[in-house]
Amino acid sequence: MKALILSGGKGSRLRPITHTSAKQLIPIANKPILFYGLEAIRDAGIVDVGVIVGETGNEIKEALGNGSAWGLKLTYIEQESPLGLAHAVKIARGYLKKEPFVMFLGDNLIKDGIVPFVEEFKKNKPNALVLLARVKNPQDFGVAQLKGGKVINLEEKPKKPKTNLALVGVYLFDHTIFEAIRHIKPSWRNELEITDAISYLIHHGYEVHSHIINGWWKDTGKLEDLLEANRIMLDTLQSQVKGRVSKDSRLYGKVIIEKKASIVHSVIRGPATIGENTRIISSYIGPFTSVYHDAVIENSEIEHSIILEESKIENIGRIEDSLIGKSVVVCRHPRKPQAYRFMLGDSSQVGII
Ligand code: DAU
Repeated sequence: MKALILSGGKGSRLRPITHTSAKQLIPIANKPILFYGLEAIRDAGIVDVGVIVGETGNEIKEALGNGSAWGLKLTYIEQESPLGLAHAVKIARGYLKKEPFVMFLGDNLIKDGIVPFVEEFKKNKPNALVLLARVKNPQDFGVAQLKGGKVINLEEKPKKPKTNLALVGVYLFDHTIFEAIRHIKPSWRNELEITDAISYLIHHGYEVHSHIINGWWKDTGKLEDLLEANRIMLDTLQSQVKGRVSKDSRLYGKVIIEKKASIVHSVIRGPATIGENTRIISSYIGPFTSVYHDAVIENSEIEHSIILEESKIENIGRIEDSLIGKSVVVCRHPRKPQAYRFMLGDSSQVGII
């Protein structure tokens, strides 16, 4: 069995972060989202993984390398533009050949992994197995209708969803999916939808099984989802202090201080993680905060936030519920006249008190 992990696409709901970077590489609890997917695939005993990449391909390749860090063999497959999930499968045909495969959307996080689903697929050998989860906003997902446990209909982001059962971003297929993809047409958003390909299988007598998952799962497409994912994942970690903590600093709860990080005259209340080489000086880091590597936080308070690498936050009262990109500077200037001075990327959001 092979795997196909999708790391192309646009990430339009996470601009400006995704103007310059791949959404799948945003760190959750200081680990890129995509790494969780690769770990889930590896834990299911799969070694050969095709990685679909788009315009952020170089960044993805640099982060993943040849996959040996996970014991995986990665093959990169370039998608010239994000023409849909089924299009990604179509262009991977030469790589996947006739083997069954797991398709994993690179911006999805499944806390308990995929081992039981892969085993179920291997045992029962349906043509497709889809994972479903009950959600409050089914109109944002592919939505399934079941009858007697069988999937009888699927619709992509319907305006009036018939159920609250969303398609989770992990699918298992055999080679019949290629026949289905040959028969579908681009949707209203001009994408070849995998949902339509699976519908083809359903309506042409193929066996499509489903599994409703109860464990925590998230499509990390929006800021609130990233913060929730960060909350959940931070809570699963164990405290570990590899960096330096000054005597006058205090750590409470689950706190991870990575190597070469330094905490000086500060309080960190976990769950929280501080990345390599990051300096926290005279500051408070509150629960559910991840600060990635090479950042500096000085004379500031931060809670329930994700701060990316090389950013600098100085003399700011308090920051909450925020995602701060790479190499961002947020500081207070004594310069007169007193004023807010910004240099913000397109689609930035600033909340001022
Ligand atoms: O997260 C689950 C949902 O994922 C399902 O419920 C939907 O049925 C399914 O269509 C999909 O919806 P999204 O609109 O959230 O998909 P998105 O465009 O975010 O793409 C998912 C991942 O696949 C993301 O990591 C980008 C990547 N991708 C996407 C497209 C359209 C590609 O690599 N190539 C593409 O052409």
